[in-house]
Amino acid sequence: MSQSRKLHVKSFGCQMNVYDSLRMADTLASEGFVETDTPEDAELVILNTCHIREKAAEKVYSELGRIRKLKEAAARDGRRVMIAVAGCVAQAEGEEIIRRAPAVDLVVGPQSYHRLPDLVARAASERIVDTEFPAEDKFDFLKGPSRDKTRARGVTAFVTVQEGCDKFCTFCVVPYTRGAEFSRPVAKIVAEIERLADAGVREVTLIGQNVNAYHGEGPDGRPWTLGELLHRVSTIGGIARLRYTTSHPSDMDETLIAAHRDLPCLMPYLHLPLQSGSDRILAAMNRRHTLGDYLAVITRMRAARSDLALSSDFIVGFPGETEEDFRASLEVVDQVGYAGAFSFKYSPRPGTPAATMEQVPEEVKAERLQRLQKAIDRNQAAFNAGCHGHTFDVLLEKPGRHAGQLVGRSPYLQPVQVMAPASLIGEIVPVTILEIASNSLFGELAAPAGRMANDDAAPTRGPAESNAGARGADAQARQQGRTRHASVREEGDVIAARA
Ligand code: 5AD
Ligand code: SF4
Repeated sequence: MSQSRKLHVKSFGCQMNVYDSLRMADTLASEGFVETDTPEDAELVILNTCHIREKAAEKVYSELGRIRKLKEAAARDGRRVMIAVAGCVAQAEGEEIIRRAPAVDLVVGPQSYHRLPDLVARAASERIVDTEFPAEDKFDFLKGPSRDKTRARGVTAFVTVQEGCDKFCTFCVVPYTRGAEFSRPVAKIVAEIERLADAGVREVTLIGQNVNAYHGEGPDGRPWTLGELLHRVSTIGGIARLRYTTSHPSDMDETLIAAHRDLPCLMPYLHLPLQSGSDRILAAMNRRHTLGDYLAVITRMRAARSDLALSSDFIVGFPGETEEDFRASLEVVDQVGYAGAFSFKYSPRPGTPAATMEQVPEEVKAERLQRLQKAIDRNQAAFNAGCHGHTFDVLLEKPGRHAGQLVGRSPYLQPVQVMAPASLIGEIVPVTILEIASNSLFGELAAPAGRMANDDAAPTRGPAESNAGARGADAQARQQGRTRHASVREEGDVIAARA
């Protein structure tokens, strides 16, 4: 093993990138690289980039400007700093990155991360661009973290189960940057989650660009659905909570809906992007479903799990979107009563069909975005207000803002601050919500800490049961024409696996 060298990985965009950044660090750890939080003292800086919208892609170049200065300063001190660009900008722009930012030593696409040790070694003497889709499965070669490292990363973890997309929505670069759909075999996912559980992880989010299109090989040799995979993963000792993201409405099959009905550990919170409330625009987007299909899925989901809350992604100003089309998106926000949602101005992406369609003026997009965000915020605030006085199961994750406080997540992913001893980190405890702030809930433990410290794998009460009160509030809220299905969310919080 070579001498210890420092590595800084900065992740942009979605959870897929967060997961990949960890795997890159784990793979390079065996080459003697030790992670550092700051780029200043790093010998290798990796920017793991996002290409979903122009703004995201441009961020990379401003970051590269900053890192270049660090590289130059280090060179004056006789120190060599290597800069690598990974992720979807790397895949989409390849050589162009080095033309625009000559300080970059290595460009590596998402399918080649397992080759990093070799690529980094070669980049010491030549510029390297590797954006191939190699025949081998990178997951077979990417290293996992040590037990200590997993412990240090906390009690929640992402696990990639699926990558790529075959849907080809006309606005989206994903099918081009991440390639065709690929699902990992069940046995490999289970083994990875068993290792995480062994190191104290309690909550796992299965991630994929199109996670509910999952069709990995099962132990019986047959392709398993996401619903079947969730059933299997729910049996792993120590794993108390499951989530998955991001889903496509047309892939919500019966087995997945049944998993929501049958698995108390599957959290009642679903990110199901709609993109537009207008059937005309959905067709132009090639979304392969209508608003009616989407609403029917929600009805089935709510029948399976009555305390389900939803979030979504919306695009405003897609080519051809009229005021009437846009109003349909506004209306559906109130109709579904989203827990929270991300909204974006349409951003033309090179090489995608919508980029060459007739564009909506920028000022129209900006104005629509503001109106949509207002509607989303209104729903979110109503949901948070509806949480007041209710008791939720909270997975305590880490120290909170103030001494003696811990922060955890509600079933709906809301951050909850609560006074509790550090010994409860990793436990799922009932917390009564007493105060609602714009980005957090504040609560108190609803049962004596001593008993909860002995809490084991499964929550003492399933989320459905512990949210019984909240469900009552839900019904009441709907009667009053408002909704409690909102959550504490901000842009930049990564919930969608693609952005
Ligand atoms: N412009 C704006 N938003 C986009 N998204 C994907 N592609 C684009 C684009 N070209 C949004 C979609 C998707 C989320 C991850 O990002 O809403 O669900
Ligand atoms: Fe695939 Fe989702 Fe992109 Fe559509 S929006 S092409 S479903 S990744």
